[in-house]
Amino acid sequence: MTSAKLTYDGKDYELGLIEGTEGEVGIDTRKLRKDTGGAITYDPGYGNTGSCSSAITFIDGEKGILRYRGYGIEELAEKARFVEVCHLLIYGSLPNEQQLEEFSRRLTLHTLIHEDMKKFFEGYAASAHPMAILSTMVASLSAYYPDSADDHDIDLNIVRLLAKAKTIAAFSYKKSMGHPVIYPSNDLSYTQNFLHMLFALPVEEYRVPTVLDEALNLLLILHADHEQNCSTSAVRMVGSSQANLFVAISAGINALWGPLHGGANQKVIEMLRGIRNDGSDYKKYVAKAKDKDDPFRLMGFGHRVYKNYDPRARLLKKAADDVLAELGVDDPLLDIARELEQVALEDGYFVERNLYPNVDFYSGIIYRAMGIPTEMFTVMFALGRLPGWIAHWKEMREDPTTRIHRPRQIYTGENSRPFVPISER
Ligand code: ACO
Repeated sequence: MTSAKLTYDGKDYELGLIEGTEGEVGIDTRKLRKDTGGAITYDPGYGNTGSCSSAITFIDGEKGILRYRGYGIEELAEKARFVEVCHLLIYGSLPNEQQLEEFSRRLTLHTLIHEDMKKFFEGYAASAHPMAILSTMVASLSAYYPDSADDHDIDLNIVRLLAKAKTIAAFSYKKSMGHPVIYPSNDLSYTQNFLHMLFALPVEEYRVPTVLDEALNLLLILHADHEQNCSTSAVRMVGSSQANLFVAISAGINALWGPLHGGANQKVIEMLRGIRNDGSDYKKYVAKAKDKDDPFRLMGFGHRVYKNYDPRARLLKKAADDVLAELGVDDPLLDIARELEQVALEDGYFVERNLYPNVDFYSGIIYRAMGIPTEMFTVMFALGRLPGWIAHWKEMREDPTTRIHRPRQIYTGENSRPFVPISER
């Protein structure tokens, strides 16, 4: 099979095929508009559209497979540290000992944010959503570390972004609590440093509990990349105009915030809380989700790509049990989540539509047990997704065939008509 045939307006067109390393096939429609004299492909929501080719992440939604650069998510979750996964996604290979040491050292050295940027936090209300703070602060990094065409400078900005985003996230949490900010410590690892900046207080010594460090490491790895999802596509879209790294990633953070994407983790907990406050009648909420006249959806259920089970949700379900047991936390919301999942998985509506729990369903339960407030959940997701966004931005930038992203449309508005003077309207 080397081509596909399209018959349009009585004429045959031969379309080339593009095949990926896992046998995925794309029909090449790049010349369609030109060859047919104007016809375009129509695919709102891009469910059948390949926007690029990419060597970063492979997903098989039918089989529930997720791999970063060829490594299965289950193995990475069990054996890797998040910093290794950052290196893998961004530079294409797992680091050897020396590379890991050097990469970790650079990430540590760039963790501080410019003192002037600290003043920005004073301008926000205590109630400001930390996602609003994160996206604007990341965009503001471009004011301190200007764009450059030099590969060395670009790489330095990548390291700066990875290193500083967690400081910004921790400072925004401290701001919301009314607590003084805690500076990073060069003795700590990437994940320990973040937890330290989140939970330490100047009045007492704080040691990062291993269980929190391990849980954070797992959560960050599971969120690290997911190929051309909404936020990554936003990063590529903005980056395709050759906008700088910081503003392209800021666009990704904003896209992630929506409740149909990364914002779902906050909504899951709000939903579970709502169900508990309503007498824990989860069956009523399953019925509401099925009712087409009711806008309610089961948050944390369903996925555009996974039609079997989200492999990340499977890992997180187990991790939720383990982390809560180790922390000695008994969370009634976890019981509601388990029951909701059980009912939904057996219900014809969800079975027919292949609706399974996604990554956001159990992550919030773990964040809660770790002591992270609900409004910070999507920020945690963003920190995990950073290396994926960066890897895609870098891949797109280094690809000489990249063109500015500019989709077409089918216009459905008025045809040409003369202007009507105000006296005649
Ligand atoms: N609850 C109830 N019904 C649902 C749900 C849900 N959570 N999700 C999808 N459906 C139904 C739809 O109503 C639709 O039914 P129909 O065929 O009878 O019209 C069918 O399942 C297909 O749904 P779509 O909205 O067409 O699926 P799409 O691929 O466009 O959306 C999405 C995927 C956005 C994830 C959707 O499942 C959803 O809204 N889920 C809840 C929000 C959520 O958890 N988002 C996080 C996703 S993971 C991530 O981004 C990290």
